[in-house]
Amino acid sequence: MSYENLLVEDANGLLYLTINRPKALNALNAATLGELERFFTDDYRQHGQFHGIILTGAGDRAFVAGADIKEFLGIAEQGDGEKMARRGHDIFFLIENFHRPVVALVDGYALGGGCELAMACHLRVATQQARFGQPEVNLGIIPGYGGTQRLNQYIGKGKATELILTGNPIDATEAHRLGLVNYVLPDRETARSKAEELLQTIGAKGPLAIRESIRAINAYYANEHGYGTEARAFGDTTKTADFREGAAAFVEKRKANFRGE
Ligand code: CAA
Repeated sequence: MSYENLLVEDANGLLYLTINRPKALNALNAATLGELERFFTDDYRQHGQFHGIILTGAGDRAFVAGADIKEFLGIAEQGDGEKMARRGHDIFFLIENFHRPVVALVDGYALGGGCELAMACHLRVATQQARFGQPEVNLGIIPGYGGTQRLNQYIGKGKATELILTGNPIDATEAHRLGLVNYVLPDRETARSKAEELLQTIGAKGPLAIRESIRAINAYYANEHGYGTEARAFGDTTKTADFREGAAAFVEKRKANFRGE
């Protein structure tokens, strides 16, 4: 498993996935998107068991400053913009529907496709230096990797419309106030510890319950019948050994030992 623009590290039962193009503020070119696709489709399996993933950007300036503008100018000239957006959607759906939690650790710019990538993750932990925005209108285009859909979901239509139409970025405190990020910490080290703590907490729960929770939450936004998906997923989890173990642990007043079965 070798990548040009992704770093993958295993530690403490977690995977750290870093987009590594700091000279271009980690802008998402086609090669990087291809590597993300490979990782979330297949390559993660080579890492055995892990509680979750922390996705971040290399360097101290950006999470991801958007789609790679220099590259997609050429794509646009060939008339392939819609194809590019649909490919981005598919790859970000892989992340949003991933069976283990993915936390975006955002330090610096998360703009355009970078804000969209952070929103495709299950949780977002930011540093005070983080900046979020959908500045595509400055380029004469609209967000293409899900920004017009997911920003509404996190912060509501009114504020999402303002951010998308003005292109104005917001700082981490405002992003937290609006519900776009889960936590804001002073610096990268404390933010990383918070992300790790969240994943360790989730990692102590039944993995099947986590997988099914993610599926049921996403069903609502995928225009599926959310309540139906929830009922089916709930029914599935009640049939698992994990549920028998969790309930027995409650009754016996001990910590549950989930096996993902
Ligand atoms: N694509 C390609 N290269 C980028 C980039 C991007 N999105 N963002 C930054 N870079 C490159 C710059 O071109 C520059 O490279 P060079 O040194 O080779 O010129 C390097 O990263 C550093 O950037 P700046 O010199 O611009 O740094 P700055 O501190 O002056 O500004 C910034 C930082 C405000 C983030 C500015 O770089 C910027 O506005 N970037 C573009 C942000 C943007 O518009 N993102 C949306 C892209 S469109 C999109 O994402 C569509 C979609 O939804 C699919």
